[in-house]
Amino acid sequence: MMQNKHILIGITGGIAAYKICSLIRDFKKSGAEVKVIVTPNALNFVTKLTLQNLSQNEVYEGEFTPQNWKPEHISLSDWADIMLIAPATANTIGKIAQGIADNLLTSVACAFSKKMIVAPAMNCNMWQNESVQKNLKTLQARGIEYLPPEEGFLACGYVGKGRLCSLEKIFNAVDEALNYSETLKGEKVVITAGGTIEEIDPVRYISNYSSGKMGLALAKSAHDMGAEVVLITTKDVECPFRIIKVKSALEMEEAVKDEFDTADYIIMAAAVADYKVKEYSQQKIKKGEDTITLELVKNPDILAELCQNKTSQIIVGFCAESENLIENAKAKILKKGCDFLVANDISRKDIGFNSDENEVTILDKNINITKLEKASKSVIARKILEWISTK
Ligand code: C5P
Repeated sequence: MMQNKHILIGITGGIAAYKICSLIRDFKKSGAEVKVIVTPNALNFVTKLTLQNLSQNEVYEGEFTPQNWKPEHISLSDWADIMLIAPATANTIGKIAQGIADNLLTSVACAFSKKMIVAPAMNCNMWQNESVQKNLKTLQARGIEYLPPEEGFLACGYVGKGRLCSLEKIFNAVDEALNYSETLKGEKVVITAGGTIEEIDPVRYISNYSSGKMGLALAKSAHDMGAEVVLITTKDVECPFRIIKVKSALEMEEAVKDEFDTADYIIMAAAVADYKVKEYSQQKIKKGEDTITLELVKNPDILAELCQNKTSQIIVGFCAESENLIENAKAKILKKGCDFLVANDISRKDIGFNSDENEVTILDKNINITKLEKASKSVIARKILEWISTK
Protein backbone atom coordinates (compact mmCIF):
# COMPACT_ATOMS: atom_id res chain seq x y z
CA MET A 1 0.00 0.00 0.00
CA MET A 2 3.03 2.29 -0.05
CA GLN A 3 3.46 2.07 -3.80
CA ASN A 4 4.86 5.35 -5.14
CA LYS A 5 4.27 7.20 -1.87
CA HIS A 6 6.89 9.77 -0.99
CA ILE A 7 8.35 9.37 2.48
CA LEU A 8 10.71 12.03 3.78
CA ILE A 9 12.77 10.81 6.72
CA GLY A 10 14.57 13.23 9.02
CA ILE A 11 17.36 11.62 11.03
CA THR A 12 18.77 13.48 14.03
CA GLY A 13 21.88 12.85 16.08
CA GLY A 14 21.01 9.95 18.36
CA ILE A 15 22.52 6.48 18.57
CA ALA A 16 19.24 4.99 17.28
CA ALA A 17 20.03 6.63 13.93
CA TYR A 18 21.62 3.39 12.75
CA LYS A 19 18.28 1.55 13.16
CA ILE A 20 16.68 3.78 10.54
CA CYS A 21 18.78 2.10 7.86
CA SER A 22 16.67 -1.04 7.99
CA LEU A 23 13.49 1.03 8.14
CA ILE A 24 14.47 2.74 4.90
CA ARG A 25 14.90 -0.69 3.35
CA ASP A 26 11.45 -1.77 4.56
CA PHE A 27 9.83 1.34 3.07
CA LYS A 28 11.64 0.78 -0.22
CA LYS A 29 10.60 -2.88 -0.30
CA SER A 30 6.98 -1.75 0.10
CA GLY A 31 7.25 0.37 -3.00
CA ALA A 32 7.76 3.80 -1.43
CA GLU A 33 10.16 6.48 -2.59
CA VAL A 34 12.38 7.62 0.26
CA LYS A 35 14.43 10.76 0.70
CA VAL A 36 16.54 11.37 3.78
CA ILE A 37 17.51 14.59 5.51
CA VAL A 38 20.17 14.44 8.21
CA THR A 39 21.18 16.91 10.86
CA PRO A 40 24.95 17.42 11.04
CA ASN A 41 25.05 15.36 14.27
CA ALA A 42 23.26 12.40 12.67
CA LEU A 43 26.29 11.84 10.49
CA ASN A 44 28.26 10.93 13.62
CA PHE A 45 26.14 7.77 13.79
CA VAL A 46 25.42 6.82 10.18
CA THR A 47 27.18 7.64 6.96
CA LYS A 48 25.69 9.53 4.07
CA LEU A 49 26.84 6.76 1.77
CA THR A 50 24.81 4.10 3.63
CA LEU A 51 21.65 6.23 3.61
CA GLN A 52 22.15 7.18 -0.02
CA ASN A 53 22.52 3.56 -1.10
CA LEU A 54 19.53 2.38 0.87
CA SER A 55 17.21 5.20 -0.17
CA GLN A 56 18.59 5.29 -3.71
CA ASN A 57 18.45 9.03 -3.48
CA GLU A 58 20.72 11.89 -2.62
CA VAL A 59 20.94 12.53 1.15
CA TYR A 60 20.09 16.12 2.06
CA GLU A 61 21.96 18.17 4.56
CA GLY A 62 22.21 21.76 3.36
CA GLU A 63 19.43 24.17 2.54
CA PHE A 64 20.62 25.43 -0.79
CA THR A 65 22.13 23.49 -3.67
CA PRO A 66 23.09 25.02 -7.00
CA GLN A 67 21.19 22.38 -9.05
CA ASN A 68 17.75 23.24 -7.58
CA TRP A 69 15.98 26.52 -8.32
CA LYS A 70 13.79 26.14 -5.24
CA PRO A 71 15.38 26.18 -1.79
CA GLU A 72 15.70 22.60 -0.60
CA HIS A 73 13.40 22.98 2.41
CA ILE A 74 10.52 23.98 0.14
CA SER A 75 11.12 21.47 -2.66
CA LEU A 76 11.45 18.59 -0.17
CA SER A 77 8.27 19.49 1.69
CA ASP A 78 6.42 19.81 -1.64
CA TRP A 79 7.75 16.39 -2.70
CA ALA A 80 6.81 14.45 0.46
CA ASP A 81 3.46 12.84 1.25
CA ILE A 82 4.57 12.35 4.83
CA MET A 83 7.49 13.37 7.00
CA LEU A 84 8.94 11.05 9.64
CA ILE A 85 11.54 12.24 12.11
CA ALA A 86 13.28 9.25 13.68
CA PRO A 87 15.10 9.23 15.94
CA ALA A 88 14.00 12.65 17.12
CA THR A 89 16.29 14.13 19.77
CA ALA A 90 15.10 16.43 22.56
CA ASN A 91 16.98 19.20 20.77
CA THR A 92 15.17 18.80 17.42
CA ILE A 93 11.79 18.31 19.12
CA GLY A 94 12.37 21.55 21.03
CA LYS A 95 13.31 23.47 17.91
CA ILE A 96 10.31 22.26 15.93
CA ALA A 97 7.97 23.08 18.81
CA GLN A 98 9.38 26.62 18.96
CA GLY A 99 9.50 27.15 15.19
CA ILE A 100 13.29 27.36 15.06
CA ALA A 101 14.66 26.59 11.61
CA ASP A 102 18.43 26.50 11.93
CA ASN A 103 19.27 23.52 9.72
CA LEU A 104 17.67 21.81 6.75
CA LEU A 105 15.67 19.33 8.81
CA THR A 106 14.14 21.93 11.14
CA SER A 107 13.52 24.27 8.18
CA VAL A 108 11.60 21.56 6.31
CA ALA A 109 9.65 20.77 9.49
CA CYS A 110 8.80 24.45 9.81
CA ALA A 111 7.52 24.61 6.22
CA PHE A 112 5.73 21.24 6.35
CA SER A 113 1.94 21.23 6.48
CA LYS A 114 1.17 17.58 5.71
CA LYS A 115 1.21 14.59 8.05
CA MET A 116 4.25 14.44 10.32
CA ILE A 117 5.24 11.63 12.67
CA VAL A 118 7.96 11.99 15.27
CA ALA A 119 9.66 9.06 17.04
CA PRO A 120 11.64 10.42 19.99
CA ALA A 121 14.66 8.62 21.46
CA MET A 122 16.83 9.94 24.27
CA ASN A 123 18.20 9.30 27.74
CA CYS A 124 15.42 8.52 30.25
CA ASN A 125 16.11 11.64 32.34
CA MET A 126 15.95 13.82 29.25
CA TRP A 127 12.66 12.17 28.34
CA GLN A 128 11.22 13.13 31.71
CA ASN A 129 12.37 16.73 31.41
CA GLU A 130 9.45 19.10 31.74
CA SER A 131 10.38 21.15 28.67
CA VAL A 132 10.63 18.04 26.49
CA GLN A 133 7.17 16.92 27.60
CA LYS A 134 5.76 20.40 27.05
CA ASN A 135 7.29 20.57 23.57
CA LEU A 136 5.74 17.22 22.66
CA LYS A 137 2.34 18.51 23.77
CA THR A 138 2.86 21.54 21.54
CA LEU A 139 3.59 19.24 18.60
CA GLN A 140 0.51 17.15 19.37
CA ALA A 141 -1.67 20.22 19.51
CA ARG A 142 -0.49 20.99 15.98
CA GLY A 143 -1.54 17.55 14.75
CA ILE A 144 1.94 16.04 14.75
CA GLU A 145 1.76 12.45 15.92
CA TYR A 146 4.46 11.16 18.20
CA LEU A 147 5.33 7.56 18.93
CA PRO A 148 6.40 7.32 22.57
CA PRO A 149 9.77 5.74 23.28
CA GLU A 150 9.93 2.39 25.02
CA GLU A 151 11.48 1.16 28.26
CA GLY A 152 14.71 -0.73 28.06
CA PHE A 153 18.45 -0.68 28.06
CA LEU A 154 19.70 2.66 26.80
CA ALA A 155 22.97 3.29 24.99
CA CYS A 156 24.04 5.67 27.75
CA GLY A 157 24.06 2.75 30.21
CA TYR A 158 20.78 3.66 31.92
CA VAL A 159 17.73 1.46 31.95
CA GLY A 160 14.47 3.35 31.53
CA LYS A 161 12.05 4.94 29.10
CA GLY A 162 13.80 6.54 26.17
CA ARG A 163 14.70 3.98 23.54
CA LEU A 164 13.25 4.39 20.08
CA CYS A 165 9.97 2.48 19.74
CA SER A 166 10.06 -0.63 17.55
CA LEU A 167 10.64 -0.19 13.83
CA GLU A 168 7.46 -2.19 13.29
CA LYS A 169 5.46 0.46 15.18
CA ILE A 170 7.02 3.24 13.12
CA PHE A 171 6.41 1.37 9.88
CA ASN A 172 2.76 0.71 10.79
CA ALA A 173 2.14 4.30 11.85
CA VAL A 174 3.50 5.59 8.53
CA ASP A 175 1.57 2.97 6.58
CA GLU A 176 -1.66 3.83 8.37
CA ALA A 177 -1.18 7.57 7.87
CA LEU A 178 -0.39 7.17 4.17
CA ASN A 179 -3.52 5.16 3.58
CA TYR A 180 -5.95 7.53 5.19
CA SER A 181 -8.73 8.34 2.84
CA GLU A 182 -10.21 11.81 2.91
CA THR A 183 -13.73 10.37 3.09
CA LEU A 184 -14.88 12.93 5.64
CA LYS A 185 -13.66 16.03 3.82
CA GLY A 186 -16.24 18.81 4.07
CA GLU A 187 -18.16 17.01 6.84
CA LYS A 188 -18.60 18.32 10.35
CA VAL A 189 -18.15 15.60 12.97
CA VAL A 190 -19.10 16.27 16.58
CA ILE A 191 -17.77 13.76 19.10
CA THR A 192 -18.29 13.51 22.86
CA ALA A 193 -15.75 11.85 25.12
CA GLY A 194 -14.99 11.05 28.75
CA GLY A 195 -17.12 10.45 31.80
CA THR A 196 -19.25 13.33 32.99
CA ILE A 197 -18.68 14.79 36.45
CA GLU A 198 -21.75 15.36 38.58
CA GLU A 199 -20.87 17.54 41.52
CA ILE A 200 -22.22 16.80 44.99
CA ASP A 201 -20.65 19.72 46.85
CA PRO A 202 -17.57 21.94 46.25
CA VAL A 203 -15.18 19.02 46.88
CA ARG A 204 -17.00 15.83 45.85
CA TYR A 205 -18.50 14.43 42.71
CA ILE A 206 -19.95 11.34 41.05
CA SER A 207 -18.21 10.10 37.90
CA ASN A 208 -17.10 6.93 36.14
CA TYR A 209 -13.97 5.23 34.79
CA SER A 210 -14.27 6.45 31.20
CA SER A 211 -10.85 7.72 30.08
CA GLY A 212 -12.11 9.53 26.99
CA LYS A 213 -9.52 7.65 24.89
CA MET A 214 -12.01 6.13 22.44
CA GLY A 215 -13.65 9.49 21.79
CA LEU A 216 -10.26 11.15 21.37
CA ALA A 217 -9.14 8.43 18.94
CA LEU A 218 -12.33 8.97 16.94
CA ALA A 219 -11.75 12.71 16.86
CA LYS A 220 -8.13 12.31 15.70
CA SER A 221 -9.13 9.83 12.99
CA ALA A 222 -11.99 12.02 11.79
CA HIS A 223 -9.55 14.93 11.61
CA ASP A 224 -7.08 12.81 9.61
CA MET A 225 -9.93 11.84 7.30
CA GLY A 226 -10.46 15.50 6.47
CA ALA A 227 -13.44 16.31 8.71
CA GLU A 228 -14.05 19.50 10.63
CA VAL A 229 -14.00 18.08 14.15
CA VAL A 230 -15.52 19.36 17.37
CA LEU A 231 -14.58 17.30 20.41
CA ILE A 232 -16.78 17.87 23.45
CA THR A 233 -14.90 16.27 26.31
CA THR A 234 -14.56 16.16 30.07
CA LYS A 235 -10.79 15.56 29.76
CA ASP A 236 -7.87 17.90 29.12
CA VAL A 237 -6.43 17.24 25.67
CA GLU A 238 -4.21 19.05 23.18
CA CYS A 239 -5.40 18.66 19.61
CA PRO A 240 -5.40 20.49 16.30
CA PHE A 241 -9.19 20.76 16.19
CA ARG A 242 -11.86 22.56 18.24
CA ILE A 243 -12.30 21.31 21.78
CA ILE A 244 -15.13 22.20 24.11
CA LYS A 245 -14.33 21.24 27.67
CA VAL A 246 -17.37 20.35 29.79
CA LYS A 247 -17.99 18.80 33.17
CA SER A 248 -21.55 17.66 33.77
CA ALA A 249 -24.15 15.97 31.57
CA LEU A 250 -26.07 19.26 31.47
CA GLU A 251 -23.03 21.16 30.18
CA MET A 252 -22.41 18.41 27.64
CA GLU A 253 -26.04 18.57 26.52
CA GLU A 254 -25.82 22.32 25.98
CA ALA A 255 -22.55 22.06 24.01
CA VAL A 256 -23.88 19.24 21.82
CA LYS A 257 -27.10 21.13 21.12
CA ASP A 258 -25.13 24.22 20.08
CA GLU A 259 -23.28 22.18 17.46
CA PHE A 260 -26.15 19.93 16.41
CA ASP A 261 -27.77 21.92 13.58
CA THR A 262 -24.55 22.30 11.61
CA ALA A 263 -23.25 18.77 12.25
CA ASP A 264 -23.19 15.96 9.70
CA TYR A 265 -22.19 13.30 12.21
CA ILE A 266 -22.69 13.15 15.98
CA ILE A 267 -20.80 10.44 17.82
CA MET A 268 -21.71 10.08 21.48
CA ALA A 269 -18.72 8.18 22.86
CA ALA A 270 -18.95 9.89 26.25
CA ALA A 271 -20.02 7.98 29.33
CA VAL A 272 -22.77 10.33 30.44
CA ALA A 273 -23.90 9.87 34.04
CA ASP A 274 -27.47 8.69 34.09
CA TYR A 275 -28.13 10.48 37.39
CA LYS A 276 -27.03 13.64 39.14
CA VAL A 277 -27.66 14.81 42.70
CA LYS A 278 -31.02 16.45 43.12
CA GLU A 279 -29.61 19.32 45.11
CA TYR A 280 -26.01 20.45 44.87
CA SER A 281 -24.76 21.56 48.28
CA GLN A 282 -23.13 25.01 48.11
CA GLN A 283 -21.12 24.16 51.24
CA LYS A 284 -19.02 21.07 51.87
CA ILE A 285 -21.24 18.42 53.43
CA LYS A 286 -20.04 17.87 57.00
CA LYS A 287 -19.32 14.47 58.49
CA GLY A 288 -22.06 13.62 60.97
CA GLU A 289 -24.48 10.74 60.84
CA ASP A 290 -23.27 7.18 60.24
CA THR A 291 -25.27 7.00 57.04
CA ILE A 292 -26.41 9.76 54.74
CA THR A 293 -28.61 9.63 51.67
CA LEU A 294 -27.96 11.42 48.42
CA GLU A 295 -31.07 11.88 46.36
CA LEU A 296 -30.36 11.43 42.66
CA VAL A 297 -32.44 12.55 39.71
CA LYS A 298 -32.20 11.47 36.11
CA ASN A 299 -29.99 13.38 33.69
CA PRO A 300 -31.39 14.08 30.23
CA ASP A 301 -30.64 11.30 27.76
CA ILE A 302 -28.74 13.48 25.27
CA LEU A 303 -28.51 10.77 22.64
CA ALA A 304 -32.22 9.93 22.70
CA GLU A 305 -33.13 13.65 22.53
CA LEU A 306 -30.85 14.22 19.55
CA CYS A 307 -32.35 11.24 17.74
CA GLN A 308 -35.84 12.66 18.23
CA ASN A 309 -34.85 16.03 16.81
CA LYS A 310 -32.58 14.94 14.02
CA THR A 311 -32.82 16.20 10.47
CA SER A 312 -30.05 14.87 8.25
CA GLN A 313 -27.44 14.08 10.90
CA ILE A 314 -26.03 10.59 11.26
CA ILE A 315 -26.09 9.80 14.96
CA VAL A 316 -23.90 7.17 16.58
CA GLY A 317 -24.35 5.99 20.15
CA PHE A 318 -22.06 3.88 22.28
CA CYS A 319 -23.06 1.34 24.86
CA ALA A 320 -20.98 -0.24 27.55
CA GLU A 321 -22.37 -3.52 28.82
CA SER A 322 -21.08 -5.95 31.39
CA GLU A 323 -23.39 -8.80 30.30
CA ASN A 324 -25.52 -9.90 27.33
CA LEU A 325 -23.75 -7.42 25.05
CA ILE A 326 -25.65 -8.06 21.83
CA GLU A 327 -29.09 -8.44 23.38
CA ASN A 328 -28.71 -5.22 25.35
CA ALA A 329 -27.27 -3.40 22.34
CA LYS A 330 -30.20 -4.47 20.14
CA ALA A 331 -32.69 -3.18 22.68
CA LYS A 332 -30.72 0.05 23.09
CA ILE A 333 -30.49 1.01 19.42
CA LEU A 334 -34.23 0.57 19.08
CA LYS A 335 -34.96 2.53 22.24
CA LYS A 336 -32.62 5.42 21.47
CA GLY A 337 -33.31 5.56 17.73
CA CYS A 338 -29.73 6.21 16.61
CA ASP A 339 -28.36 5.22 13.20
CA PHE A 340 -25.52 3.14 14.61
CA LEU A 341 -24.64 1.79 18.02
CA VAL A 342 -21.14 0.75 18.98
CA ALA A 343 -21.22 -1.88 21.72
CA ASN A 344 -18.38 -2.42 24.18
CA ASP A 345 -18.00 -5.40 26.50
CA ILE A 346 -16.75 -3.86 29.76
CA SER A 347 -16.50 -7.19 31.57
CA ARG A 348 -13.18 -7.72 29.77
CA LYS A 349 -10.14 -6.17 31.41
CA ASP A 350 -8.01 -6.14 28.23
CA ILE A 351 -10.26 -3.74 26.31
CA GLY A 352 -12.51 -0.76 26.89
CA PHE A 353 -12.20 1.49 29.95
CA ASN A 354 -8.80 3.13 30.23
CA SER A 355 -7.23 0.57 27.90
CA ASP A 356 -5.44 1.53 24.68
CA GLU A 357 -7.21 -1.29 22.87
CA ASN A 358 -10.78 -2.08 22.11
CA GLU A 359 -12.97 -4.66 20.44
CA VAL A 360 -16.43 -3.52 19.47
CA THR A 361 -19.57 -4.62 17.72
CA ILE A 362 -21.41 -2.18 15.47
CA LEU A 363 -25.16 -2.41 15.03
CA ASP A 364 -27.17 -0.48 12.50
CA LYS A 365 -30.86 0.47 12.52
CA ASN A 366 -31.81 -2.78 10.80
CA ILE A 367 -29.92 -4.73 13.45
CA ASN A 368 -27.16 -5.79 11.09
CA ILE A 369 -24.30 -6.74 13.35
CA THR A 370 -20.60 -6.33 12.55
CA LYS A 371 -17.78 -7.23 14.88
CA LEU A 372 -14.48 -5.34 14.75
CA GLU A 373 -11.67 -7.55 16.05
CA LYS A 374 -9.46 -6.36 18.90
CA ALA A 375 -7.08 -3.59 17.85
CA SER A 376 -5.69 -0.27 19.08
CA LYS A 377 -8.32 2.37 19.71
CA SER A 378 -6.97 4.38 16.76
CA VAL A 379 -7.47 1.44 14.37
CA ILE A 380 -10.94 0.77 15.78
CA ALA A 381 -11.76 4.49 15.50
CA ARG A 382 -10.82 4.58 11.86
CA LYS A 383 -12.83 1.44 11.08
CA ILE A 384 -15.89 2.84 12.85
CA LEU A 385 -15.64 6.08 10.86
CA GLU A 386 -15.12 4.26 7.58
CA TRP A 387 -18.08 2.06 8.39
CA ILE A 388 -20.54 4.81 9.27
CA SER A 389 -19.46 7.08 6.43
CA THR A 390 -19.86 4.48 3.69
CA LYS A 391 -23.10 2.82 4.79
O1 C5P B 1 -28.34 4.26 28.05
P1 C5P B 1 -26.88 4.17 27.99
O2 C5P B 1 -26.20 5.06 29.00
O3 C5P B 1 -26.30 2.80 28.03
O4 C5P B 1 -26.51 4.70 26.52
C1 C5P B 1 -25.23 4.99 26.14
C2 C5P B 1 -25.24 5.98 25.03
O5 C5P B 1 -26.12 7.05 25.34
C3 C5P B 1 -23.90 6.63 24.82
O6 C5P B 1 -23.77 6.98 23.46
C4 C5P B 1 -23.96 7.86 25.70
O7 C5P B 1 -23.08 8.87 25.25
C5 C5P B 1 -25.41 8.26 25.58
N1 C5P B 1 -26.03 8.86 26.77
C6 C5P B 1 -26.54 10.12 26.69
N2 C5P B 1 -27.15 10.68 27.78
C7 C5P B 1 -27.26 10.01 28.94
C8 C5P B 1 -26.74 8.71 29.03
C9 C5P B 1 -26.13 8.15 27.92
O8 C5P B 1 -26.45 10.73 25.64
N3 C5P B 1 -27.83 10.57 29.97
